Amino acid sequence: MLSREDNELLTRVGPGTPAGELLRRYWQPVACAAELTEEKPIKAVKVLGEKLVVYRDTAGGYGLVAEQCPHRFASLAWGRVDDEGIRCPYHGWKFNAAGKCIETPAEPKGSTLKDGVRQPAYPVRKLGGMLFGYMGPAPVPALPLWDVLAWEHGRRTVERHSVVECNWLQCMENSVDPSHLFWLHGRTAHLASLMDEFEEKEDFIPFDFGIMKRRSTPIKDKGIQVDQHPLLFPNVLRHVAHDRSGEGSHRHNLQYRVPVDDHNTQVFMINFTPEPGTRTPADADAPFSFVPMRGEDGDYRMDMVLAQDVMAWETQGAVLDRTREQLGTADKGIVMFRRLIKEQIALVAAGKMPLGVRPAEAESLIELDVINERIGLMRPERQGAAQ
Ligand code: FES
Ligand SMILES: [Fe+2]
Repeated sequence: MLSREDNELLTRVGPGTPAGELLRRYWQPVACAAELTEEKPIKAVKVLGEKLVVYRDTAGGYGLVAEQCPHRFASLAWGRVDDEGIRCPYHGWKFNAAGKCIETPAEPKGSTLKDGVRQPAYPVRKLGGMLFGYMGPAPVPALPLWDVLAWEHGRRTVERHSVVECNWLQCMENSVDPSHLFWLHGRTAHLASLMDEFEEKEDFIPFDFGIMKRRSTPIKDKGIQVDQHPLLFPNVLRHVAHDRSGEGSHRHNLQYRVPVDDHNTQVFMINFTPEPGTRTPADADAPFSFVPMRGEDGDYRMDMVLAQDVMAWETQGAVLDRTREQLGTADKGIVMFRRLIKEQIALVAAGKMPLGVRPAEAESLIELDVINERIGLMRPERQGAAQ
């Protein structure tokens, strides 16, 4: 249970809010790279309560700027791009990716009006088929080169899911809540049929980038099986599952839960399946798909693990009223995560770098210790053991 003040502290994401300032210290995905095409090079996005446009210019560069033109507030989402930047559709003011106004074509020759005009703009980078924006203060930190984004020895796909209609924290608390796997996903994830009764040991191990969650489960005739994967602080789940081709390979994935505003969350999923003989450059666009969580009848797609989670998150309420919840022992991961967020908010308020943020010069590949013995991804000491 939380006080009303703490619930607000952890859930509000707009500029100037404590959690909003914390989240702005981390690069956030704003779109899948393949969503920007020659025909449609501009996309309106809302991130952390700010309305922005992300665009690809005709020279192949990217920009992320505030959506409304500073002249008279028309939307740049309907604008045009060229090799220098983006032009407003209304009177043609043009901005570069740094937010500098470089043309005001309706003004008299020699006008200096543009020199005093700046559009809010954020750095943007492409990695692993995604476009990432950094909305925090200088200096711009390292973009974490998570294995799923930067590996090249296989194939990568990227997904944008339908917007989840609730606050981001509900989605992330789910990632330190292992007991729900058996109950919410038991049938779909083929776990329930492997156990005589629900029983598991759950550990939460703080590490350099978040919380490593480790589940040890007694499986009929197979002894203890381990499933270990991290919550990457503050809003990413690193996971592994069977590849969707059903050929026994492993689909490593990242699930970013990016706050749109206080009441909506955009989930992006990046999948990487190692595959002999296949190479995918880290800076290449990856095949994109949009994945709705509801079917044509408007109901949750309850045959899908991801939609089962969305059902649980949305039905908790737009912002879960944590003043009335009743936590038990099995919720200890959630308690640890909330405490960690509060600590990191305090660090940011004190002018320090929060958990996992590295200076730009420390940018390097980060490989994570992910185990899922149920699908044959074994602990190092058991590698080679019968599955
Ligand atoms: S509103 Fe954008 S140029 Fe006038
Ligand atoms: Fe889940």
